[in-house]
Amino acid sequence: MTATPIAPARAPRPGLPSPRTATTAWSVVTGASSGIGAEFARELGRRGHHVLMAGRSRDGLGEVAADVAASETVAGDLTDPADLAALERSLAGRDVELLVANAGSGGLGVLSDLDVPTIDDTIAVNLTAVIRLCRAVLPGMLERGRGAIVLVSSSAAAQPAPGNPVYSATKAAVENFARSLRADVRSRGISVTCVRPGYIRTAFHARHNEDLRHVPERLWGTPHDVVEATLRAQRAGRAFVTVPAPRLASRLYAATAPLRRR
Ligand SMILES: NC(=O)c1ccc[n+]([C@@H]2O[C@H](COP(=O)([O-])OP(=O)(O)OC[C@H]3O[C@@H](n4cnc5c(N)ncnc54)[C@H](OP(=O)(O)O)[C@@H]3O)[C@@H](O)[C@H]2O)c1
Repeated sequence: MTATPIAPARAPRPGLPSPRTATTAWSVVTGASSGIGAEFARELGRRGHHVLMAGRSRDGLGEVAADVAASETVAGDLTDPADLAALERSLAGRDVELLVANAGSGGLGVLSDLDVPTIDDTIAVNLTAVIRLCRAVLPGMLERGRGAIVLVSSSAAAQPAPGNPVYSATKAAVENFARSLRADVRSRGISVTCVRPGYIRTAFHARHNEDLRHVPERLWGTPHDVVEATLRAQRAGRAFVTVPAPRLASRLYAATAPLRRR
């Protein structure tokens, strides 16, 4: 299969080489064991990429890897400094053409109800790991003058998210990180694209005990919707993409906040 190349940050640079050529180029997906990350890994596999998949659950990673022709898995917890450092080392030693920093967790709750470990872990996965993994792949991308970074944010980044202040703060920080990073690396052939999912059907909400039965069906999207729109936006050189469409997303929190717990 011929791999679909990742689009460079600016025309008229030539398209990126196929991942199946002399040196192996990797697409890296964090949080690939479930939900949106699993769909990114499967879709990139369908497009012929070698995919390095990171996540906590070995079983989840194994299940996804079975669907991806050329893949490797790295199991680890991004809140654990040793696991994060191991993943950084693994990325620094590869030709990474695409990083999808997708792993995320909720830390749902009003601030007075959140314990300190939950706050620290939410920041560690949603923000610290994102910055550190981008830092790990950048030297190689800069040296090669090509690469793509996709950051998975949330519609909670851009609007008040009652009942969810820490999570929404981490996602807002990721978005400004994306803006600044994009400004720094765009002229060097590296694209930075940030996706803002709204309500997407994954295990995320059940994991965080969110009761979303009141959210109308038309406000929900699928992991496939997110992946298709994001890869399209990346190829078009866009900085941000919202899924489902922005006009629906802008109604999300007005219609559904405050978030309810089961
Ligand atoms: N679903 C939505 O409606 C929605 C909306 C807005 C934004 N998002 C964002 O989309 C991204 C993906 O979420 P999802 O909906 O696909 O949820 P999901 O099904 O719960 O998947 C989350 C992924 O992140 C990984 N992960 C979580 N904590 C981790 C940690 N400490 N160390 C390593 N990996 C960790 C999980 O690994 P394991 O499964 O192996 O534990 C899993 O692969 C997240 O950044 C989330 O904030 C989702």
